[in-house]
Amino acid sequence: MPKWPGNEAPNAVTSETPSKLSGILPSLAALATDSSIGTPTYVYDLDAIAAEARELLRAMSVPAGPRGLVAYAVKANAAGPIVRTLAREGCGADVVSGAELLLALACGISPLHVVYSGVAKTDDELDLAIARGIGAIQAESLEELDRVDARARVAGKTARVSIRVNPQVDASDIGTHAHITTGHDEAKFGVPLGDVEPALTRVTSLSSTSLVGVACHVGSQLTRVEPYVQSARVLFGVAARARAAGAPLEFVDTGGGFGIDYGAGCPVRPADFVGATREAMREAGLGGLALHVEPGRALVAAHGVLLARVIQVKETRVGAERRWLMIDAGMNDLLRPALYQARHRIVAISGGEGEAVPWRVVGPVCESSCDFGEHALPVRPPALVAILDSGAYGFTMASQYNGRALPVEVFLRGGRVVAKTQRAPRDAWAEERASIREA
Ligand code: LLP
Repeated sequence: MPKWPGNEAPNAVTSETPSKLSGILPSLAALATDSSIGTPTYVYDLDAIAAEARELLRAMSVPAGPRGLVAYAVKANAAGPIVRTLAREGCGADVVSGAELLLALACGISPLHVVYSGVAKTDDELDLAIARGIGAIQAESLEELDRVDARARVAGKTARVSIRVNPQVDASDIGTHAHITTGHDEAKFGVPLGDVEPALTRVTSLSSTSLVGVACHVGSQLTRVEPYVQSARVLFGVAARARAAGAPLEFVDTGGGFGIDYGAGCPVRPADFVGATREAMREAGLGGLALHVEPGRALVAAHGVLLARVIQVKETRVGAERRWLMIDAGMNDLLRPALYQARHRIVAISGGEGEAVPWRVVGPVCESSCDFGEHALPVRPPALVAILDSGAYGFTMASQYNGRALPVEVFLRGGRVVAKTQRAPRDAWAEERASIREA
């Protein structure tokens, strides 16, 4: 039986509906019964996402000094309406592939407001970034610096680069899941501290690259400011050395990772990370550089839900009685519980009566880990449920495993549907797979 860390916590769901969702919840039952939408479906509140960005951008703005950048980590949610909403508020983008780069530009983000992270960018992707003149290619190794320089020389351009440093902050200090920590010495990410000096020597000798920044990203879903600031301080040391080596440094990029409240609490807001980082920057004498941050989750997670229909219940009595609630959303739609043992709150949307009892909520995929954990829901169960805080790393990590169609996405503004996607018809997957013909 899968172990569910966090399930020991009280199942405080049905009575408490996070106020953040007030723009979404009233519409959900109608969306589920709309024949052009149905379930499973992601529903997002674009107004709340815009408000989230505004709050962070306010915290980023300083009366004097260079303009900072909120580079939205597109991997969290790459849907056009969401990226455009954030672009309109003034966000840039942190991308990790050529496709995400093209998406950011197509959604109106200026190339100079795009940073490109990732440990294994292909030549073709580097060429694209160089041709478009993006804000920075964040190089993760000495070898990559050489490759960028060679590609830029062929293109007859100078590439703006930053060095992504691995600050080697102890992962166990971060308090997040091991799969989403990146800034420790066993991680594949970034230039390790010991290699920073040779990297600086190398990059300042290259003719077709310009070192405009230094960057780091220590991990995701941080619920304390200290590990973030600790890694930022390490980065500031590198920035000072880069300047001393003659680099035309413009910014320090302290990464993303701002946590949200999935139900177990998160006492800090994105603005708190920014405030503390700015303070540390001033102390380090780097107030003249621009601050870049790369949040993904914090801008979108709380403003999206995954709407699902209850297919059936099942009651078992093996030792103890267990009530299973089988829903039509599975691990292919929302992978986080299966991959990271993540717990998402689940609330009843329509139907459901009587006292709250523990229901083990599971999906249809043929894997034991297609399991959303135990939740307090009415004893006569609801017909529809919403899995909360699914706006980040939900649809972007969805798959067609088990021959399942990708979930639909619906975008609300002012409480109205302003965009929606279509579900592939039931036979589309079978036809597409069967149509791969051997010669
Ligand atoms: N910058 C870099 C270089 C990153 O690798 C990431 C996330 C971010 C920014 C944005 O991090 P955020 O602010 O969203 O925490 N799928 C996982 C999260 C993986 C994060 C990977 N990198 C999850 O569902 O929790």
